[in-house]
Amino acid sequence: AGVISAILLSGTVYSANMTVGFSQIGSESGWRAAETSVAKSEAEKRGITLKIADAQQKQENQIKAIRSFIAQGVDAIFIAPVVQTGWDPVLQEAKEAEIPVFLLDRNITTKDDSLFMTGVAADSVHEGAVAAEWLIKQLNGQACNVVELQGTVGASVALDRKKGFLDAVAAVPTIKIIRTQSGDFTRSKGKEVMESFIKAESNGKNICAVYAHNDDMAIGAIQAIKEAGLKPGKDIKIVSIDGVPDIFKAMIAGETNASVELTPNMAGPAFDALLAYKKDGSMPPKNIKTKSILFQPDSAQAQLEMKKSMGY
Ligand code: AHR
Repeated sequence: AGVISAILLSGTVYSANMTVGFSQIGSESGWRAAETSVAKSEAEKRGITLKIADAQQKQENQIKAIRSFIAQGVDAIFIAPVVQTGWDPVLQEAKEAEIPVFLLDRNITTKDDSLFMTGVAADSVHEGAVAAEWLIKQLNGQACNVVELQGTVGASVALDRKKGFLDAVAAVPTIKIIRTQSGDFTRSKGKEVMESFIKAESNGKNICAVYAHNDDMAIGAIQAIKEAGLKPGKDIKIVSIDGVPDIFKAMIAGETNASVELTPNMAGPAFDALLAYKKDGSMPPKNIKTKSILFQPDSAQAQLEMKKSMGY
């Protein structure tokens, strides 16, 4: 592992000679692409060499990449775990090689919490609850049939976003989830699944709202709704998660209603925790939680401009 020379310059830690291997899931969504590009710029700011391996949505590719990072003797490994389970053996190998592991944007289930240093992520159960509370408020007692576009099967964020939404609407008997299926966090699958929901539900007339686990699937759903001759955001309400520029554009066009923002800057807090640990052994908290703020059309233009200025 490289020697660290970290100096504090106007509040920013710069570090030389450190290499981090990042096992990224892929590029399934606009949010994911933003997370990768922010990780690159956050590494550059701190003088850290970042090696990114794209797993093309496959856990086996992530495991291979992690083994390769271990063999290269990197100073730390960042992992955005595509699914929640099955990580313990490879994390044990990293631990034996004394390479600290940081989890980004998704959680894992493990028998041994010491296999990773910290996880930077939002509370995804809370994200689902925020989306549900928005819908409950909009409906104001009106009955509503909801269709749900789930994220990748087995991903912590899909399981937790589902749970948060379900738990919140369980208290409201007039809201029913009539169909639910995975759209794998992609625009194309979101559209495909929404088309099948529309066909099965009286050409969409029986659907009152879409809850999409991410913005890209919501954008796919918008296209499907339009092609069915209905008005997205009006005939069918839409709430999703991420807060990517394209969803703010859709809000401005009046085609979607709300999105719960997930910051793409997961790497920044992980780099800071890594630098503090390498400097004096400081242990970060087990979870570093990011905020979940709901945005609606009234602030879409401002959000879009802010994202542009941040280079997202
Ligand atoms: O893990 C975060 C999720 O993964 C984002 O919400 C989604 O867009 C991405 O693919």
